[in-house]
Amino acid sequence: MKYSFIQFLRRYRFIHLLAMSVVLLLSACSSDTASYVIGVSQCSEDSWRTKLKAELEQSTYFNEGVKLEVRSADDNIEEQRRQIRELADMGVDLLIVSPQQTGNLGDAISYARERNIPVILFDRKSGADNYTAFMGADNYLIGQMLGEYAAGQLGGKGNIVEIGGEHGSSPAIDRHNGFNDAIARYPDMHIIGFAEGDWKQPSGKQAMMHILDSLQMINGNLSNTKLDCVFGGNDRMAFGARQALENYILCHPGNTGLNPGNILYLGVDALPTPGGGIEKVRDGWLTVSAIYPTHGDELMALALNILKGTSYDKETMMETSLVTQANANVLLMQHKEVERQSNYIKRMHTRVDSVLSVVGLQRIVMFIIIFMTAVLACYTVLVVRALRTKHRLNKQLRQKNEELNNEKAVVEHQRDELEEQRDKLLDAVSPTEEPVSVETEVRNQFMDRFLECLDRHIDDSDLSVEDIGEEMGISRVQLYRKVKATTGKTPVEIIREERLRRAKILLVDSSLSISEVAYRVGFSAPSYFTKCYRDYYGKAPSENNKAD
Ligand code: FRU
Repeated sequence: MKYSFIQFLRRYRFIHLLAMSVVLLLSACSSDTASYVIGVSQCSEDSWRTKLKAELEQSTYFNEGVKLEVRSADDNIEEQRRQIRELADMGVDLLIVSPQQTGNLGDAISYARERNIPVILFDRKSGADNYTAFMGADNYLIGQMLGEYAAGQLGGKGNIVEIGGEHGSSPAIDRHNGFNDAIARYPDMHIIGFAEGDWKQPSGKQAMMHILDSLQMINGNLSNTKLDCVFGGNDRMAFGARQALENYILCHPGNTGLNPGNILYLGVDALPTPGGGIEKVRDGWLTVSAIYPTHGDELMALALNILKGTSYDKETMMETSLVTQANANVLLMQHKEVERQSNYIKRMHTRVDSVLSVVGLQRIVMFIIIFMTAVLACYTVLVVRALRTKHRLNKQLRQKNEELNNEKAVVEHQRDELEEQRDKLLDAVSPTEEPVSVETEVRNQFMDRFLECLDRHIDDSDLSVEDIGEEMGISRVQLYRKVKATTGKTPVEIIREERLRRAKILLVDSSLSISEVAYRVGFSAPSYFTKCYRDYYGKAPSENNKAD
């Protein structure tokens, strides 16, 4: 039999139930899967980037379902290129890239873009415009602000040494340009030395030593060299430059007219973390630092806007400001307060996490219970359906049985009537002679044989007079005549009476039911048995039945 699919579904509704439970169970177990994976490619590892990473991680607490995949290339452009491709191959939903240098990562970024992965450039530009959005501070403006600050502090007059950031990186270029453009407006301000570092403190030191050496080469010694300002591409390099200067003076007493305490030290970053730029300004190691914000929360918001398809700005410039000794302490106090709050948020997050894991466990248990209940319900439905079917089939069987019994009764009755007709016909054709005067003993022997034969087949409802005759070796007619002559009754009557007599004994003595008794004594239809019994004994078999 062919089922259509719909029929199949209807028939196996319980399978739906089971399948649904399994799906629910699975979804309950896997409810903590991230809905967005954001890849972060950092060009290097340092306190500024550590702060950014911490802010991004904290932002994920408020954006459930966001997972970060962070890679750091440790100032190796090839490694950063490889890591970007790796993150793209992983199938991250969005990439945040802080390129080490400009002009080197365009191909890796295109690789991600070809895979429909949006790319946010953060803090540094790559030189190519195949990015989705950019977020960072205006490094040109930062350079300009610091140039103006120096000019203001020095009355538009003075000598400057510049320690540039990493060669080829966009902030180094922009900060340099901004600073130099500002200084150019003051004819009495001169940059007397320039060297590049790699953003790290030792490189600032190195660059300053290099500059001092070259100045000495030009001037013979530095006793007549005037230095008013050191502009570092970031705080770490500015501080490294100061250390180099102080070492130099220590090692060349009398050889220099320099006094590090009178020099302005300008830096960028102004990190509020321990040992960061703000502390350096507060403690007088740096004169001023321009805030280079991290703002991981805003970066996360931009990423989510892009991912969710809501509107966003292609270029976002973060605000900056100068930190001097006048405001450094206030800023540090504010930062401590913010840090206290964020620690509190972290603690809350840990607690929420543990509560969530308990809830997750409860969820799994709940779904297991639902699943088991569904299985049980399906099983019950199946059992109930099976019982119903059984009940229906039994009913049909009983009806059929009843019909069959009725038919059998009719057939049995007709058969007996037919036998009687035959006997009557036999009597009419050649009436039985008067009982022959045979010896009583011989007659008894004949009837004994007859009754023995009947006894052997008493439960056979198909037993006919012919069958008994055959077994006794005489014809039906002979059998009829002999039985009639001996008993005055026809064999059919004797057979029926014998069956009924046995039946009465069984009904009285055994605990068999009426139907069972009927079958035992060779009636195939209990209803016909009942009729014959009533006709013969004048009462129903049930009146004699012990089982009733
Ligand atoms: C951190 C850093 C900062 C600097 C920025 C420029 O890696 O070196 O000190 O301001 O990168 O991108």
